[in-house]
Amino acid sequence: QPPNSQMEESCVLKRTDCRAKGGAPGFKVAILGAAGGIGQPLAMLMKMNPLVSVLHLYDVVNAPGVTADISHMDTGAVVRGFLGQPQLESALIGMDLVIIPAGVPRKPGMTRDDLFNINAGIVRTLCEGVAKCCPNAIVNLISNPVNSTVPIAAEVFKKAGTYDPKRLLGVTMLDVVRANTFVAEVLGLDPREVDVPVVGGHAGVTILPLLSQAKPPSSFTPEETEYLTKRIQDGGTEAKAGAGSATLSMAYAAVKFADACLRGLRGDAGVVECAFVASEVTELPFFATKVRLGRRGAEEVYQLGPLNEYERVGLQKAKKELAESIQKGISFIRK
Ligand code: NAD
Ligand code: LMR
Repeated sequence: QPPNSQMEESCVLKRTDCRAKGGAPGFKVAILGAAGGIGQPLAMLMKMNPLVSVLHLYDVVNAPGVTADISHMDTGAVVRGFLGQPQLESALIGMDLVIIPAGVPRKPGMTRDDLFNINAGIVRTLCEGVAKCCPNAIVNLISNPVNSTVPIAAEVFKKAGTYDPKRLLGVTMLDVVRANTFVAEVLGLDPREVDVPVVGGHAGVTILPLLSQAKPPSSFTPEETEYLTKRIQDGGTEAKAGAGSATLSMAYAAVKFADACLRGLRGDAGVVECAFVASEVTELPFFATKVRLGRRGAEEVYQLGPLNEYERVGLQKAKKELAESIQKGISFIRK
C-alpha cells in the first residue's frame, strides 16, 4: 500500500471515530451501482444529506474514482468505495439503508421489461448480499423493471429466511415527482404546492396517477386528464429525449424517497410517500400506493381511496400488466 493510502485510511478512521464519539446522529447507507448515471448524482446528493453518517459506494466499475471525488465534499458523511463482487459484503455489513440503481437502462425502442434478462440476475446477486450482510436494512430498489425486480428481491429474501415485506420498497417516486411537475404546469402552480398520488407500478399503463386525489383539490377536463396521464406514463421515454433514460431527476427522486425512509427510521411521525410494496390493497401481491414510513419501513400501506371512472378503467389495465410482471419476477427465482 503506498504511504498516501495508509494516511488516507487513517484519516477516514479518525473521522468515523470522531463522529461516533460525538454521538452524531446518522444512518449508514450503501448505494449499489454508485458509478452509474443515477448512482453518481445520487451519491453526491446523499453525501449532502445530514441524516447520513456513513456512505458506502459499490459498483463493478469506477467505484474508487467516484468515491474519491465525492469524498472531497466537505459534508459530514464518511464515504468509502467498494469495487467488484469480492467487496460486496464489506460494502453491505452494518448498513441501515441500501439503495440499488445497479443494472442496465433502456435504449430507444426498448420497454422496461426488455431489461429483465440482465437486471434480474444483477438484482438477485445484490439481494443475496443484503440477506447475508444486512438483513435488517431497508432496501430501496430502483433497477428496472421495478414491477419484476421487487418480486425477485422478495423471493431472494424468502429463500434466505430474512424477508420482511415492510423493508422492501420499489422506488416509484419519480412518477410522483413527474406528476407533481406536470400537474403544476397545467394548473399554473409551484410544483412544491402540488401532491399527486401515483399508484400501480412503474411501467407504461401500470403507472396510474390519481388526478382526482391531487392536492390542492383540482378539476381537470377530459383532455387535460388524458394529456397528463399519458405524459406521466411516458415520462421515462421523454426524459433524455432518446439518449438513455432519466438519471438526474431519478437521482433527485431517489434521494427524496431515501430521505423519507431515513426520517421514518429516525421515528419522525407522518412520513408518507408512494412506493411499490407487498400489498393487500388489490388481489395482486405487490402494488404501489401511499405508505407510511417508520422505524420498521413501510409500516402502513394505505388503501386506494375513491377513484373516478377514468381511473377505474386505468386500474384494470394496470392490474393486468402488473400481474404478468410480478409473476415473471417470482418465477425467475422459484424455477
Ligand atoms: P447506468 O448504466 O448508467 O448505471 C448502472 C450502473 O450499475 C453502472 O455503473 C454499472 O457498472 C452498475 N452495475 C452493473 N452491474 C452491476 C452489479 N452486478 N453490481 C453493481 N453494480 C452494477 O444506468 P442508470 O441510468 O444509472 O440506470 C440504472 C437502472 O435504474 C436501470 O435499470 C434503469 O432502468 C433504472 N431506472 C429506474 C428508475 C425508476 O424510477 N425506478 C428511473 C430511472 C432509471
Ligand atoms: C423512468 O421512468 O425514467 C425509468 O424507469 C427509466 C425508463 O426506462 O424509462
